[in-house]
Amino acid sequence: MTILDVAEIAIVNEQDIVVARKGIREAAVGVGFGLTDVTRIVTAASELSRNVYIYGGGGLVTWRVLLGDRRGLEIAFSDDGPGIEDLDKAMQPGYTSGRGMGMGMPGAKRLMDEMVVESAVGVGTTVTVRKWLLHRYE
Ligand SMILES: Nc1ncnc2c1ncn2[C@@H]1O[C@H](COP(=O)(O)OP(=O)(O)OP(=O)(O)O)[C@@H](O)[C@H]1O
Ligand SMILES: [Mg+2]
Repeated sequence: MTILDVAEIAIVNEQDIVVARKGIREAAVGVGFGLTDVTRIVTAASELSRNVYIYGGGGLVTWRVLLGDRRGLEIAFSDDGPGIEDLDKAMQPGYTSGRGMGMGMPGAKRLMDEMVVESAVGVGTTVTVRKWLLHRYE
């Protein structure tokens, strides 16, 4: 598996979310995703970046293009915030510990092909998502 275009954006303030979203949009277009998938990826990235900012107190968004039998985009959202106590609950549509709609996490999972959440209370959270191109590239 070859990895191309590794990029990262530190999420410190709200403007950084916009910057990350723009970079991820460009990366997704570069991979060859169509407009619908680009929008799905950017929407998921926007929600997960917002969680890093709001709940994690800031962190890092990293993405990379995956080239192998399949071509895809992987994005990781990490923070060293409070962590998530109950992952099942956090993934439930409508659950929020704050003032949200509780739709960010379940929405991101639905929009992407893969989503892995690693979290430890008092240590932090990393959410990794992937989207694959459906066709084999030549
Ligand atoms: N990075 C994180 N660190 C700590 N807790 C998190 C993190 N991301 C999500 N959570 C927890 O998971 C819950 C669900 O997240 P989700 O994004 O689904 O909803 P929300 O952010 O509360 O609302 P919405 O995204 O709809 O505005 C959050 O309310 C929060 O308790
Ligand atoms: Mg959210």
